Amino acid sequence: MKCILGIESSCDETAASVVDDRLRVRSSVVASQDELHAAYGGVVPEIASRAHLERIVPVMQKAVDDAGLRLDDLAAIAVGVRPGLIGSLLVGVSAAKGLAWARMLPFYGVDHVAAHLFAGLLRTSDAADEPMRPEFPALGLVVSGGHTSLFQIEGVLECALLGRTIDDAVGEALDKAAHLLGLPHPGGPNLERCAMGGDAQALRFTSPRLPSALDFSLSGLKTKLLYEVRGVPQGRGAQSVFPRASSDLDESRRRDLAASFQHAAFAQVLERLTTAHDAMSEKSAPARTLFVGGGVVANATLRALLTQWCSSRGLSLVVPEQRYCVDNAAMIAGLAQLRRLAGDQGDDLSTPTEPVSLFARGRKPTRVQ
Ligand code: KG4
Ligand code: ZN
Repeated sequence: MKCILGIESSCDETAASVVDDRLRVRSSVVASQDELHAAYGGVVPEIASRAHLERIVPVMQKAVDDAGLRLDDLAAIAVGVRPGLIGSLLVGVSAAKGLAWARMLPFYGVDHVAAHLFAGLLRTSDAADEPMRPEFPALGLVVSGGHTSLFQIEGVLECALLGRTIDDAVGEALDKAAHLLGLPHPGGPNLERCAMGGDAQALRFTSPRLPSALDFSLSGLKTKLLYEVRGVPQGRGAQSVFPRASSDLDESRRRDLAASFQHAAFAQVLERLTTAHDAMSEKSAPARTLFVGGGVVANATLRALLTQWCSSRGLSLVVPEQRYCVDNAAMIAGLAQLRRLAGDQGDDLSTPTEPVSLFARGRKPTRVQ
């Protein structure tokens, strides 16, 4: 059994995990920093990288111990090398490179967005023994705090970017909407809780029309919510003032607005999926599978909508368990295993650490790393 130790430190989660060559998660440790950033209403990069530094070694050690292994039993080391906060990334990458060098192990520097995309292929230890065999071509969707991206997937690790957000990612927009509604950090999960029992039709949003029908835009939704909550600002420039504050909202209106905003953001996701699926069916072969991942897919309403969308269109849905939607290291080790199983022997230790994804505009990867 070839086991890979994966490490993740791109934002505010310090994580390590061991995944075996059947993509079974043998251990997964995540040290969240939510409590360190709560007072600031969002992630403070300098605090995040210092906290990673304190936690990285014990988290890696725990992942190896929990898997019942010793360092000598590992077949390779994997780490998210992009995208993310550069100071945070560098902590995990330095630890991973140091370990790979000291133990003379293969090193896989993987793309965090691609790792989210294929996290649905991970199996928990008590799940079926055999890896999943998804059918292709497929569509892929990553909805996280930093990315909202739509992919055409021809085979495992062969992706082309179809569309992406031109402003905020869905997770980022949910976080900002939560803040505007006076809900605490982390925004997405708190907005989900607040939206329960709210009327999703209470406030109607129009879907943005963009030059590319497969791109996303969330900033107009945010502005509409801002004006609804605080009123249209009066006066000009720095002198302008909002007539109301978030604290003026009553509880039931807050729930309705949370549900309406969430609904509008998810409706846009489903619209883009429908457009992409129709276009693919017309141009080439119809997609057989939808891969989804990213923190926002932990949302129960979105999971239900995606399940319903796939069943109405005859696609299989490959969706991670909720704990592997939000940032984790099992998806990093899992993507490295997929690469290793496809014959990729890993990367040089000089692989750079980068703030942007493999799928950033202007980069056209044919093979995922
Ligand atoms: O994938 P992720 O953990 O980190 C990034 O790669 O960005 O995604 C984090 C995002 C945050 O915006 C967070 O609010 C959102 O995922 N999120 C959720 C839920 N859990 C996390 N959004 C909606 N509902 C949730 N239950
Ligand atoms: Zn992520």
